[in-house]
Amino acid sequence: MCGIVGYIGNRQAAEIVLKGLKRLEYRGYDSAGIMLFDGEKLKVSKTKGKVADLEAKINSQITTHGTVGLGHTRWATHGIPNDVNSHPHLSNSGNLAIIHNGIIENYDAIKKALIKRGYVFKSDTDTEVLVNLIEDIKINQNLKLGKAVQVALNQVVGAYAIAVFDKTKPDEIIVARLGSPLAIGVGKGEFFIASDASPFIEYTNNAIYLEDEEMAIVRLGREVRIRKIEDDTMVTPYIQELQLNLDQIEKGGYPHFMLKEIYEQPNAITDTYRGRLLVDQGLIKMSGMDDHMQKFLNAKRIIIIGCGTSWHAGLVAEYIFEDFARIPVEVEYASEFRYRNPVITKDDVVIAISQSGETADTLAAIKLAKANGAFVYGVCNVVGSSIARETHSGSYTHAGPEIGVASTKAFTTQITLLTLMALRLAKANGNLSEKDYYLHLQELERIPGKIEQALLLNEHIAGLSNIYKSASNFLYLGRGYNFPVALEGALKLKEISYIHAEGYPAAEMKHGPIALIDEHMPVVVIAPKQGHYDKVISNIQEIKSRKGKIIAVVTEGDTQVKSLADHIIEVPETLEAFTPLLNTIPLQLLSYHIAVMRGCNVDQPRNLAKSVTVE
Ligand code: G6P
Repeated sequence: MCGIVGYIGNRQAAEIVLKGLKRLEYRGYDSAGIMLFDGEKLKVSKTKGKVADLEAKINSQITTHGTVGLGHTRWATHGIPNDVNSHPHLSNSGNLAIIHNGIIENYDAIKKALIKRGYVFKSDTDTEVLVNLIEDIKINQNLKLGKAVQVALNQVVGAYAIAVFDKTKPDEIIVARLGSPLAIGVGKGEFFIASDASPFIEYTNNAIYLEDEEMAIVRLGREVRIRKIEDDTMVTPYIQELQLNLDQIEKGGYPHFMLKEIYEQPNAITDTYRGRLLVDQGLIKMSGMDDHMQKFLNAKRIIIIGCGTSWHAGLVAEYIFEDFARIPVEVEYASEFRYRNPVITKDDVVIAISQSGETADTLAAIKLAKANGAFVYGVCNVVGSSIARETHSGSYTHAGPEIGVASTKAFTTQITLLTLMALRLAKANGNLSEKDYYLHLQELERIPGKIEQALLLNEHIAGLSNIYKSASNFLYLGRGYNFPVALEGALKLKEISYIHAEGYPAAEMKHGPIALIDEHMPVVVIAPKQGHYDKVISNIQEIKSRKGKIIAVVTEGDTQVKSLADHIIEVPETLEAFTPLLNTIPLQLLSYHIAVMRGCNVDQPRNLAKSVTVE
C-alpha cells in the first residue's frame, strides 16, 4: 500500500507534493515524508503520523524551495511507523532519494551483502536497502542511474512502484512498477508521478499508466521513455486522456468522504446501469459479457473471488446468479483461493470483484485461475487498473472515485453490476420467466429513487447512533439475500468505530451467538417483508426473550416487527433480490454516525488502507 507522488518541472514542488499526498492518504497514513531538491541539496522532512503532521513540521525542518520533489504516505510493512522508517530514503552517499510502494522480499540477504561492503543503514526498511543497492551498482559498474535501477530491479524479488532521483542528474526521475500502480502525468515542460492520477488532475489530463515490469525515464525536455525491466525492450508510451475531474475527488461540502460517497449512491448506481439497462427494449447490453456469452452459457459453474467488501458483494451475487440463471456459484476469499490448490477447469467462469482493481490477493488468484484455463471476468471500479487489465474481459462499475477507506458506493454498484450480469445470463439461458425478467428490469431502474428515500432516514439513524454509540459489541443478523448485508453492516461498524461486531445468518444465532445476548447487546436484524419474514420474526422473539436490544431494518409499513423491536428503520419496498441495495444504506449510516460520535477518523480508520497491494 502506501502512496507515492513526485514532481519535476518549473513550479515549486512542495505544495504539489503535499497536496498530492493528501489525496493519496487513503492508501496508508501512518507516516509521511517529502524530499525537495533546490538545485543544490536534497532536503528531507519526515514524520510519524499523517500528511497534516508533515505539513505542520516541514518548515521547522527544511526550507521548502525546490522544483523537484518526491513524497510518500506510508502503510508500514517493514519497520514500525516512525520518523526514521518513513520515506523518502537516501542512499549512503546522500545523492540518491527513493520512494517506494510495495515490499522487497529478499531485502535481508541484499542488506547483509551491502553491510559487508561497508554500507550502513539507519532504518529497518526494505526500501533503504533498495536505494543502496542501486547506488552500489551505479558506482561499481559505472552505470547511469536508469541502467543501475534496471540492474537492481532484476536482482530483487517482490513488488514495487518506485521513483528514484539522483542529485547529480537533476533533470530526471526514474520510475518503475511491478505489482503496485504508477501513473505519470505529462504536462507542458513538467511531469508528475503518482500512485493514481488524483494528485495531478488539476495540472494535466494526460497520463501514462506504467504496466507491470516496466520502467520509465522521465526527463525534462524529452518524451517519456519506457522499457521492459527484464530485457530492456523499448515500449511505446500510450498517453491516455483522463476522465477524472477535481469535484469527484473533493468532499464537496460533506464533512467526510464516506458520507459524500453514501449520498452519491443513487447517482453512482444510475451510472452503473446507464447504457446497459434498456428497460423500454427489454434489454441488458454489456459488451464485455456479450462478446463472451458462449463462455457464460457453457460454464459448469461460476467462481466469484474478492476480498473485504467486494467479497460480500460476491456473496449477494451468489444468491442472484443461482436464483435467476440457475447456475452453481462458489464465492471465495481470493487470499484463500490462491493458496488452497483449487480445482479449476476451462469450464469455469471466474468473476473477480475489486473496487481498486489492485488488491494483490485478488490479482494473484486471477493469475492462478487463468493458468488453469478458466475464463476470468473482472468487475472493477478503477478504470485501467491492474485487475481490469489482467482479466479476459469485464465491466466497470463506474461508481466514480471512492476515497473513504470504508467501502460504500463501491459495494452497491458492484451488486448492481452483478445483478445486470445475472439478468443478462438468465435471459440468454432462459432460466427466468419473461415476466420476472421484465419485472426485475423495471424495478432495478427504480432503485436509485428508493435509495434517495432511504437516505432521508439519516436523522433518525443519527438518533439511534447516539443511543448505542457506547456499546462494546454489536450483532447483525440477516437471512438469504440479507445475510451478506449483515456481514457488511458488521464490517462497516468494526472498520470505522472499532466496536466489535459480528454478522451471522439469523438462523445460526441459536448455534452459538445467542450465548452473547443480554440487555447490553444491540442486535441489528434485517427483516424485510420478502424472504423468510416469519422465520426472522421467530429469531427476533428469541433475542427479545433474552433482553437483547433490537434494531430492526424493515419494509415500510411493517407492523409485526414494530411491535417487537426496540427501534425500527423502515426502508422502501422492493423485490427480494434488490433488498440488499436498500437495506445496506441505513447500516452504512449507522456505522458512520457511531464512528463520528466516538471521535474516530471515519475516512482513515486505524491500521487500514483502501488499496491492499501486499499479501
Ligand atoms: C481493503 C479495503 C476494503 C476493501 C478490500 C478489497 O481491505 O479496506 O474496504 O473492501 O480492501 O478491496 P478491493 O479494492 O479489491 O475491492
